[in-house]
Amino acid sequence: MKDTIITHQRRHLFVAAHPETPLQSDAFRADPRIAQARQLIAEALADHQSKLTDVRPTGAAAADANQKMLDRFGKARGGATFWPYLSAGLGNGPFVELADGSVKLDFIGGIGVHGSGHSHASMVDAAIDAAIEDTVMQGNLQQHPPSLTMSERMVKLACESGANLQHCLLSTSGAMANENALKIAMHYQSLKHVGQALKQGGQSTNHDGKADRIIAFDNAFAGRTLALAALTDRPNYRMGLPLTIDVDYLPFLDPHSPAKSQRWAVDELKRLLDRHPGRYAAFWAEPIAGEGGYYGGSHEFFRALCEPLREAGVPIIFDEVQSFSRTSRPFAFQHYGLDEFADIVTVGKITQVCVTLFGEKFKPKGPILSQTFTGSSSMISCGLKMLDLLDEAECFGENSQNMARHEYFVSRLESLQQKYPDLIRGPYGEGMMIAFTPGDGSFDQAKTLMETMYEIGILGFVCGADPVRIRFLPPPAITTNDHIDAAIELLDQSLQKFAGLIS
Ligand SMILES: Cc1ncc(COP(=O)(O)O)c(C=O)c1O
Repeated sequence: MKDTIITHQRRHLFVAAHPETPLQSDAFRADPRIAQARQLIAEALADHQSKLTDVRPTGAAAADANQKMLDRFGKARGGATFWPYLSAGLGNGPFVELADGSVKLDFIGGIGVHGSGHSHASMVDAAIDAAIEDTVMQGNLQQHPPSLTMSERMVKLACESGANLQHCLLSTSGAMANENALKIAMHYQSLKHVGQALKQGGQSTNHDGKADRIIAFDNAFAGRTLALAALTDRPNYRMGLPLTIDVDYLPFLDPHSPAKSQRWAVDELKRLLDRHPGRYAAFWAEPIAGEGGYYGGSHEFFRALCEPLREAGVPIIFDEVQSFSRTSRPFAFQHYGLDEFADIVTVGKITQVCVTLFGEKFKPKGPILSQTFTGSSSMISCGLKMLDLLDEAECFGENSQNMARHEYFVSRLESLQQKYPDLIRGPYGEGMMIAFTPGDGSFDQAKTLMETMYEIGILGFVCGADPVRIRFLPPPAITTNDHIDAAIELLDQSLQKFAGLIS
């Protein structure tokens, strides 16, 4: 014991005596040849991307070559891709050049991943930082300081208005972030029951000490692991798969009937809590229904649900994999003033590297969460840069650019609605999660419009079920009103063509 202390003190003295020991790694990063290479890449990037400023149709020969590549890809992956998108590898703001020779205005961005558009100079530069790291992937036994910086930044953002989320675990997908969130909640609840049982001489608040049920919303989408396929409310996403967890569903806030839907959800929640006392490991919720159709939540709605959940001691998980960065605050739970209820929060997509945030009391007591890979060096470096860009663009705060652009986008969609009253209707989403219902709300018509838009040059994607909607995720860090005008013009052309196709 004494030896250990001495060794530790010696090491400490050694570090203190040589605080400026130069690191070759720092010297490498600061090498003028690296700076020169960065400069040359930045200049070449600016030259070439400056030519991508508008949409462009595909050429016949390129379309043919593209189709052959897609056919090979479909064969290799055992199924066709959802649409014919193969990037050529360069873009400019919301414009992206595809391998079929076309340029599209990309307002879906890989479903919310391209938060600063395509080929943003700062993101390319951040990727160079990662490319010269000595490792492609960071993780369990190969942590680098940027993983620490990312974790601390996410914790700081998450706690900025009072939430208790002092810990952050990185991972490589939204599904993994959610899987970790469920594990943390289940582990915590089960150990809590064991503790209670011990204190009460073997009597637990539930019958066999298990906390194995989850409460979620109708139309939830959490990802596609075995556990999350059970949680996700899409029967065909769990076709042929075992139901690994028991999930009970509540109706989400209905924008056409908010008071009634809130009453219905709260009554149903109370019935569930009475029916399965002590059995719920977590309430899992997207604050804004994403795949469910881009319907906003509200402070009143969530508070009415979270209070009885708190009373019953059920941990609350907010899935912000899609909603992070898209409202007036970094997190949608902050936008709705729900900080006190955020026990565990997951983030993904726009941050490039995914995260699970959790409070002190949820710290796992056993090794349930370790992974070889928690993120690539470029995910982490570019994720950090993305947070800078969102800040620089003043996406959040009192004069939130996200909310200003939302209003502008909605006003333009309302004008289109007046022009095409049978083809487009609201509600129009929340913040930089924009959506509308096309035609009769059927999947077939939504798909027809989505494909027409693709051909004309504006990328949006379907979401929701009954009605099926078209959504946009404009890149929050760079979208301007001019980009929105360009998108509306292309949508107008698409709706004209769509009218002919469905009549
Ligand atoms: C709300 C939500 N949670 C989780 C996921 C799963 O993320 P990933 O596809 O990165 O696994 C998604 C993906 O669309 C999502 O929208």
